[in-house]
Amino acid sequence: MVYVFAHRGSSGTCPENTLSAYKEAVEGGSDGIEIDVQYTKDNELVVIHDNTVNRTTNGKGLVKDYTLKELKMLDAGCWFSEQFALERIPTIEEVLAFVKEKEGLLLNIELKNVVIHHEGIEERVIKLVRDYSLSNRVIFSSFNHISLHRISKLAPEIECAVITLDKQFKPWDYLASVGAAGWHPQWSKIDQHIINEMKKRNHPVRVYTINKVDQMEAFLTNDIEAIMTDYPGKAVQIRNEIRRTRGGE
Ligand code: G3P
Ligand code: MG
Repeated sequence: MVYVFAHRGSSGTCPENTLSAYKEAVEGGSDGIEIDVQYTKDNELVVIHDNTVNRTTNGKGLVKDYTLKELKMLDAGCWFSEQFALERIPTIEEVLAFVKEKEGLLLNIELKNVVIHHEGIEERVIKLVRDYSLSNRVIFSSFNHISLHRISKLAPEIECAVITLDKQFKPWDYLASVGAAGWHPQWSKIDQHIINEMKKRNHPVRVYTINKVDQMEAFLTNDIEAIMTDYPGKAVQIRNEIRRTRGGE
């Protein structure tokens, strides 16, 4: 079965990276959620995608220039719809506590540390995941592969996954050099040959971001580990329909 990961939560139907988006993802039957993590000014870990708060809150400026207390005063929902006006930017701990309570739910923690350097973020996230006893349900990912390599050395028990935007030559060799088991490629930059080669080598491939119905149908019937989607409820429905018409997998 191909897993369905909710990309920034159910971000097509709720404000991204909010507890409402994660709750809706779980209610829709997601197997996992994907979150983006970065530091505040006072070195707290918060869940927000962009380096600035401009797009997804009513504030302005860089996340790293706000303290946690200041970030918590921003509205992280009304940009999406008035219905979500009380949403706040979650801390990573709020998400870990949420995931801990949902039996079997997987969590992909993406470190947003490419543009802005976050000193010591690897040790911090590893400690938190261990404190919550979630090592076997977490996958760390990043576009910063140096950071992932560091995590793989510090916490070999937790899966790391390399995120890529472009086509890759022999990604299995590259993954080995980073120390990552997983690969999160952009959907249009892969082909069947590379999927088959990764499968042969037992590398989990989670493809992002699959939002169209025909793409969901194609990838949910392929030999990959998971899709990441902004519409996890829709993807789960399609997966159920595929199972029904094929007589159950
Ligand atoms: O992990 C897939 C995806 O989340 C990476 O891109 O920009 O949505 O964080 P982005
Ligand atoms: Mg992400």
